[in-house]
Amino acid sequence: MTTSFDFSNRTAIVTGGAKGIGRAIALRLKDVGATVHVLDIEAADLDGVQSHVCDVTDAQSIADTLQKIQSTATSIDVLVNNAGSGAGSKSVLESDPDQWRKLIDINLVSVFEVSRQVLPSMIDQDYGRIVNIASLAGKEGTPHLSAYSAAKAGVIALTKSLGKELAQTGIRVNCIAPGPIDTELFQQLDTHVRETMLAKSPMGRAGTVEELAHIVLLLASEEITLNTGAVFDASAGRAVY
Ligand SMILES: NC(=O)c1ccc[n+]([C@@H]2O[C@H](COP(=O)([O-])OP(=O)(O)OC[C@H]3O[C@@H](n4cnc5c(N)ncnc54)[C@H](O)[C@@H]3O)[C@@H](O)[C@H]2O)c1
Repeated sequence: MTTSFDFSNRTAIVTGGAKGIGRAIALRLKDVGATVHVLDIEAADLDGVQSHVCDVTDAQSIADTLQKIQSTATSIDVLVNNAGSGAGSKSVLESDPDQWRKLIDINLVSVFEVSRQVLPSMIDQDYGRIVNIASLAGKEGTPHLSAYSAAKAGVIALTKSLGKELAQTGIRVNCIAPGPIDTELFQQLDTHVRETMLAKSPMGRAGTVEELAHIVLLLASEEITLNTGAVFDASAGRAVY
């Protein structure tokens, strides 16, 4: 059997798609025929992709944006919860509690809120694919990234809960736990931090955004029917569970 991805007649939402991993995901989905909407605090400049300036930590901003999208789209078939940030992380003792909560908001509460608002449309049509971008940090707990790690562990658990809640429907919910991926963010890290990360990689390298986008494409496809609440490794062999 040969399988080729065909997302024509599918509408996809990618959060945080203005750059990095989300940008590659948006472009990949567009290339296979999907109508793609990017929700990002920054305007996305992507040919053939619709850009919406939206803060996914703000429930009203999400509602306003979805209303705009749903005024033209008949359905939302694919949701990729990719927006996230590890910016401003410190040791637990040095962390400012408000900043800690903000990191939980952007990395975890946003996934809950966008999913909660998109789900009624998926339930109505009894079809949907939700792909959440977690992190290896959510499995390992990275020092000086406690809020980010805790939030990403939360994304993994939220994926499992939601997957089970919707298992009797046509909606599948899965997540990916990437190790280091070669984005602008990764290149901006100190050389020794990058080298330490790469030394932990059995393949001795970071992943590429295209490699990650390909896993998303698979999980966003109609062909994914038996998997839900699953966590897909994208760590070049580093993850041990
Ligand atoms: N790069 C890596 O090594 C790596 C590893 C594991 C997991 N991840 C995860 O992958 C996802 C993408 O990471 P990336 O490396 O492409 O990061 P990035 O910083 O390049 O891109 C993140 C995007 O999210 C957007 N964003 C941030 N806050 C937002 C908000 N409140 N509302 C809407 N959009 C917002 C940013 O504007 C940006 O376009 C994140 O969830 C990240 O945690 C990345």
